[in-house]
Amino acid sequence: MSMNEQSGDTAKGSNEKTCFIKTYGCQMNVYDSQRMEEALAAAGYRPVASAENADMVILNTCHIREKAAEKVYSELGRLKPLKQQNKDMVIGVAGCVAQAEGAEIIARAPVVDMVFGPQTFQQLPAMLDEIDDGRARGDKPKLVRTEFPAAEKFDALQAIARKPVTRSPSAFVTVQEGCDKFCTFCVVPYTRGEEVSRARADIIAEARALVAEGVSEITLLGQNVNAWEHDGTRLDGLLAQLGEIEGLERLRFTTSHPRDMDAALIAAHGDNKKLMPYLHLPVQSGSDTVLKAMNRKHSARDYIELVKKFRAARPDLALSSDFIVGFPGETEEDFAATMALVEEVNYAQAFSFKYSPRPGTPAADAATQIDEAVKAARLARLQELLNAQQIAFNQAQKGRVLPVLFDKPSKSGDQMSGRSPYLQPVHVPFDSLGNHDAAALRGRILPVEITGAHANSLSGILAL
Ligand code: SAH
Ligand code: SF4
Ligand code: F3S
Repeated sequence: MSMNEQSGDTAKGSNEKTCFIKTYGCQMNVYDSQRMEEALAAAGYRPVASAENADMVILNTCHIREKAAEKVYSELGRLKPLKQQNKDMVIGVAGCVAQAEGAEIIARAPVVDMVFGPQTFQQLPAMLDEIDDGRARGDKPKLVRTEFPAAEKFDALQAIARKPVTRSPSAFVTVQEGCDKFCTFCVVPYTRGEEVSRARADIIAEARALVAEGVSEITLLGQNVNAWEHDGTRLDGLLAQLGEIEGLERLRFTTSHPRDMDAALIAAHGDNKKLMPYLHLPVQSGSDTVLKAMNRKHSARDYIELVKKFRAARPDLALSSDFIVGFPGETEEDFAATMALVEEVNYAQAFSFKYSPRPGTPAADAATQIDEAVKAARLARLQELLNAQQIAFNQAQKGRVLPVLFDKPSKSGDQMSGRSPYLQPVHVPFDSLGNHDAAALRGRILPVEITGAHANSLSGILAL
């Protein structure tokens, strides 16, 4: 590719190709999509903002609930006419639906050229070559890659350069993949495979590369991030090492399982100054009967005791969680226990879902499925309580001065946005910035006096 083609941004150079990746699901998929984009960049693909005009379209999919999985097929329907216009277009389905359904996707949506699971995207450039070669021979190759070489994926990640174009001051780094917990409702152990930890030196190297690109906050990702272990070091040790990187100001990790929490990680919340006082610790239900049926292997009381230990180590810790309502067999009494747990813990934020039976998981076969209307009514009650707690938490920030990591102007274009230590979006109007240049705030952590609290965000003014 010539320099000329590289710098031209509207007209496509003769050799230049373009790609568009659409991401569904969790942060692991967000991270994987970034890495795919980086791998494709090395293969000469420039990212574009929509599927129209893209030579390669990838849907990085999620299988966690029925609705998430169905979105993929409606999107493939929308892509069909685009591919009819551009016969060279390559359409790939990646991620957890790809892993779960494999070749079935091609049978149901023949517009798809390749299906590849979360552990095989490093083979992307080679797969594209295979498609090109096949098409040059007049074939229409269809590729399906759904093995689990997680270690191979981690090795391959080291070879893909991290690109500044995708950089915000906050970045994800996957440190652990897969899950051995087999909660009876969940597809993740089947779509992501068994628990594998990435090597410590590799994680540190990636973190250093990101910090050199201007990143000041890193969130370590894993389906069971607190199960991360390498050469006898556990997550507290990794966080301590990362905390020594100059320029790396904030550390977070997600998602944790209550069973993998150890005393050292709890203590780190008091000792590691870079670790943010915010913990996502899913409990799913407050009923011991339901927790047992879910195979969570802890009681509601175990969870509450764990929360108490965290709060003793870090009194200003804010909590978030995931909840499922209407799990098979959930009675009104079980649901009341969930409401009671929420009252007792008091969350700053939470995600809650109606139970969605997933093919191949044990709970999907239970005879005691709950009526949709009952699920909906319970979800509404739970969300009313969780929303009230979230609003109260946001309101409690009013008058406080919080350190805010600034990122970019908000969509309205008249304020700078950043994040509080508790991940709340914080908006600061341009006209209150005084002599500060808005663009220069990006990536800086500055004190903001919180003057307004809303359901999902805060507003304030620089307190310098
Ligand atoms: N590893 C994480 C969760 C990953 S999935 C953990 O153990 O907490 C994210 C959330 O999706 C889960 O916490 C759960 O609340 C929800 N979820 C998973 N499977 C679901 C299902 N079948 N129906 C409804 N919600 C589900
Ligand atoms: Fe799914 Fe449970 Fe594993 Fe979380 S711990 S990914 S909910 S099986
Ligand atoms: Fe969805 Fe797979 Fe993540 S099922 S939640 S994208 S691990």
